[in-house]
Amino acid sequence: MKILSIETSCDETAIASVEASGGLRNPKFQILKNLVASQVKVHQPFGGVVPNLAKREHIRNLPILFKEVQGSSFIVHGCDLVAVTVGPGLEPCLWTGINFAKELRMYPNTANKPKIIGTSHLDGHLYSFLLPQKTVNPKLQTLNPKQKTLEFRVSNLVFPAISLLVSGGHTILILMKDLTHLKKLGETRDDAVGESFDKVARLLGLPYPGGPEIEKVAKQGNPEAINFPRPMLNQKNYDFSFSGLKTSVLYYLRDPKQRIHPNLQNNYSDHSDKFVGWDRIANVAASFQKAAFDALIKKSLRAVKEFEAKTIIITGGVAANKTLGRMFKQALKEDKFKINLIIPEPKFCTDNAAMIAVAGYINFLQNKNKRLIARGDLSI
Ligand code: KG4
Ligand code: ZN
Repeated sequence: MKILSIETSCDETAIASVEASGGLRNPKFQILKNLVASQVKVHQPFGGVVPNLAKREHIRNLPILFKEVQGSSFIVHGCDLVAVTVGPGLEPCLWTGINFAKELRMYPNTANKPKIIGTSHLDGHLYSFLLPQKTVNPKLQTLNPKQKTLEFRVSNLVFPAISLLVSGGHTILILMKDLTHLKKLGETRDDAVGESFDKVARLLGLPYPGGPEIEKVAKQGNPEAINFPRPMLNQKNYDFSFSGLKTSVLYYLRDPKQRIHPNLQNNYSDHSDKFVGWDRIANVAASFQKAAFDALIKKSLRAVKEFEAKTIIITGGVAANKTLGRMFKQALKEDKFKINLIIPEPKFCTDNAAMIAVAGYINFLQNKNKRLIARGDLSI
């Protein structure tokens, strides 16, 4: 079945075309087109996403991307299902995607009007690990000789799995007994981990979005330089908290002894070490990143142990951070856990529409469909 998917929940306008086949035990996906129009440059001067500007950009970008994916304006030919994100996210932005999907069906030329399936953005992240990728354990994937891509094999080698969803809006730990039996174990009680990266980056004078910038700068710093707190680390639950960590960074930077050279904050684009205090910024970035990741890793591994999981799956924008993957691998080695670690390719970690097609298909197979209304606070 050919799926056209639309994602407009935040600041990326994305449309994909994905061929999906197989049942819930062996779903297969082949990406035909996967386009993302990034709005980073539009929002960067404001240090974060401006909802009205995001909506304006989505309205402008959607027809352009659609034409590129479908080869024609407003005609959904050769497509069996349209999957569109209905939440969570910024409601004005979600509406642009939903209305666009609905309008596609109104055009008289549209032959065989496809069904529209309302899809959760969180399901998109959660199932993004099913997209073709190169890095998974060979036992879990088969080579598709036609496409020369690796297909994920859902099997009892994978489940039960612990899934860690880490994005700009969410930090959730989920037990997956299989593809459809999910149990939320815990989540953040305040800021999402990606949000704390963005806020700390701003404190350091680094541009938006902060996550990739902190990752880059942290490579030049010492993660042991500052012992930032790891809130809730020792509590016997699976919840997280990141706002205290961000506040500790703020207090650290306010300390006159630690103050960063003011010129430096305006010269963030020049990541050279000739500036006074650059090493200090790098140490703050590296130490903050380590504190945040220590919390994610410790709780995830505790869940692995309790539920005897065979796999850890990490998804969402923060999963694009290579240091997170390395730290997880190291921790698994130290604790002598012989389990699979699955992290989608970076382009499938950050917001994209291919993952919405995957989630749409998994929901379609279960006869699940969300109403076509924007729900900013939709949860898992
Ligand atoms: O999944 P996503 O693209 O959008 C949401 O659903 O929120 O995630 C965006 C978040 C932002 O907070 C961004 O700073 C963070 O993911 N992020 C990263 C990295 N790349 C993106 N955080 C840490 N390291 C990265 N390399
Ligand atoms: Zn997202």
